[in-house]
Amino acid sequence: MKEIDWSNLSFGYIKTDYNVRCYYRNGAWGELELCSEETLNIHMAATCLHYGQEAFEGLKAYRGKDGKIRIFRPEANAERLQSTCNGILMPELPTEMFVEAVKKVVKANERFIPPYESGAALYIRPLLIGTGAQVGVHPANEYLFVIFVTPVGPYFKGGFSTNPYVIIREFDRAAPYGTGRFKVGGNYAASLHANKMAHDLGYSCEFYLDAKEKKYIDECGAANFFGIKDNTYITPKSSSILPSITNRSLMQLAEDLGIKVECRPIAEEELDTFEEAGACGTAAVISPIQRIDDLENKKSYVISKDGKPGPVCTKLYNKLRAIQYGDEPDTHNWVTVLD
Ligand code: PLP
Ligand code: COI
Repeated sequence: MKEIDWSNLSFGYIKTDYNVRCYYRNGAWGELELCSEETLNIHMAATCLHYGQEAFEGLKAYRGKDGKIRIFRPEANAERLQSTCNGILMPELPTEMFVEAVKKVVKANERFIPPYESGAALYIRPLLIGTGAQVGVHPANEYLFVIFVTPVGPYFKGGFSTNPYVIIREFDRAAPYGTGRFKVGGNYAASLHANKMAHDLGYSCEFYLDAKEKKYIDECGAANFFGIKDNTYITPKSSSILPSITNRSLMQLAEDLGIKVECRPIAEEELDTFEEAGACGTAAVISPIQRIDDLENKKSYVISKDGKPGPVCTKLYNKLRAIQYGDEPDTHNWVTVLD
């Protein structure tokens, strides 16, 4: 293998040794198979290609100072995948099978898990697709579940530092009670244009308001939003955002730290009142928000006055990372240690 520069990894694809696969045929899941092939051979009329019958997940494995490999909350990803399957009529994969597949693919690619000191991790990407042929709009009768892994560095260049966001109104990522609450590829296709607009304008990422009224905060690109004020962690309640496992974990850690937690609609104007804010997700962990610009209304919500991450974001980030890498006790039983 070509030497990997662990400390300078970006968030991209690097070929590893194995992926795991499992086929659903005749109404049942088959055996988990280890595979070294990177490509898939599927029918041209597969429902994933035409009707977007596809779901994915994202989680990470970390190498600790003690050399142990820890996988963060795989059961939560299994449950979210089940919810997505339910949402777009795909067969659910049992949690035990999902976790077994995650462990198997991580173990088989152990040499790609970045060293502790690098601060990088192994990104785990489960994928479930409808492979059965259909021409009418109907769910497939055959499916393929795959997990590949790839070592990754920070999602945003600069790692834990503040970033500017821009509100985009021309493109919505998801409608209320649409597929935004499920992790399906169509949501990301819907986000590509807005994301490019934000990048072209010099921002790190696009910022979405609710699609119906354009009044409430939905998400920060492919990450959940949270704001901090008056010792309170506030995060949007919306039927069009993905239930983030990172966000759920941060809510718990905030509570542990004596911070109040509120999950409720957040009107755009409230952005003016936050002492700190962040985008959170597996890829970025926490990406503290520097400012959010609303170009149409010539408004700039400056959240970090000095351009640095605030104390609460920093505390939450350090706490979560410490649990993920095994530097602090896993009091909530979030971590699966690889045997
Ligand atoms: N929101 C969207 C749209 C996402 O794609 C993700 C990433 O999976 C998240 C939020 C964060 O979710 P999690 O913390 O489970 O990675
Ligand atoms: C996340 O893991 O937070 C993501 O949003 C993943 C992204 C590459 C889809």
